[in-house]
Amino acid sequence: MSEGTIPASLPLRNDLIGEEPYGAPQLDVPVCLNVNENPYPPSHAVVRSIEKRVREAAADLNRYPDREHKELRQAFVDYLAKESQAELTTDEVWGANGSNEIMLQLFQAFGGPGRNALGCDPTYSMYPEYARDTFTTWNTAPRRADFTLDVDATIAAIDALEPSMVVLTSPNNPTGTPLPMPDLERILDHCQNARVAGAADGVHPIVVVDEAYIEFRDPGMPSATTLVGTYANLAVSRTMSKAFAFAGARVGYIAANKGIIDCLRIVRMPYHLSAVTQAAALAGFDHTDEQLSQVGHLRATREATAAWLKEQTYAGKPVEVAPSQSNFLMFGGHFDDRGAIFDEMLKRGVLIRVVGPEGWMRVCMGTDEEMKVFRKALVESMRVVETRAAARQ
Ligand SMILES: Cc1ncc(COP(=O)(O)O)c(C=O)c1O
Repeated sequence: MSEGTIPASLPLRNDLIGEEPYGAPQLDVPVCLNVNENPYPPSHAVVRSIEKRVREAAADLNRYPDREHKELRQAFVDYLAKESQAELTTDEVWGANGSNEIMLQLFQAFGGPGRNALGCDPTYSMYPEYARDTFTTWNTAPRRADFTLDVDATIAAIDALEPSMVVLTSPNNPTGTPLPMPDLERILDHCQNARVAGAADGVHPIVVVDEAYIEFRDPGMPSATTLVGTYANLAVSRTMSKAFAFAGARVGYIAANKGIIDCLRIVRMPYHLSAVTQAAALAGFDHTDEQLSQVGHLRATREATAAWLKEQTYAGKPVEVAPSQSNFLMFGGHFDDRGAIFDEMLKRGVLIRVVGPEGWMRVCMGTDEEMKVFRKALVESMRVVETRAAARQ
């Protein structure tokens, strides 16, 4: 898009010429299962609380908001204590406009020219963009064939590249794979002594765990936020967008040692979190149980959808499904023309995502009604694409 519409006379940064704005298509389609949203809108009670809190904030909009968003940070602490049994203080949490902004602030503070960041592919496609925007070099270590983290390969890459940031995602997007605590602890322990290229002796990498989807994990699995008190090199990014069903409000947050939070306070824009955003987030936290009430059902939908997908076939072979602890499933494994399946689904009013390794696609969990439409559309789409491929042979 940029190539056609951006005048060549504009002094766009050389490394951005030809780049496209990031984002999945926002199409007006009956069933949108492409951006891992929560399909359940806020209740009337939640909407009323938001109205009340935002009305109160509106009366003071001539003033800048609380830069340190102290009330909201207390709400993050309370939520993480309840949801993840993490014991944190308000100095150890920090909010921003979506976890996207949290991640950008991390790259701004800890990346930069001459610095490496390391992730584990396949993973979230925004990480290379944060790196590009902060002049950080993005590198990846491969995951195993089953998409679990290869700890030995990751540690070898840390030693070879000496990154300032190691970015791990749990559950991972687009695969849904969780990161077991012992694996995370091995990497955290290793990073406590690892070197950072170009930095002074005694400087070590931070480990960022992106837990955007963590509330969808199976009960009993711990969150990395419980390790913040133990590891000063750990930063755990979270969001209200997914399980909390608050994507439109744009609120993300981080749990980390106070030292890491203080680094983010250096790079944040002044008053980055508007009074309206803070008010809406606080209203959401007034209704935590209600906001999370559909998580169990979405987890059950994921399990039922995974079981159903595994019973389906494409080109004479069972459809593969990557084990997921999230609100989405990566499936297929051997789709020879996933673009064609995407197009056929779209014709049937269902938007999913072409993402991840070749042959795979991703669908996020919708309402029961939406999942019925998805199943029917997928069966029809696979048959159309298979038949077309067979006719070409
Ligand atoms: C792994 C991961 N991290 C972060 C985000 C960003 O979420 P938000 O900016 O809405 O908090 C997403 C969104 O899809 C994601 O998949």
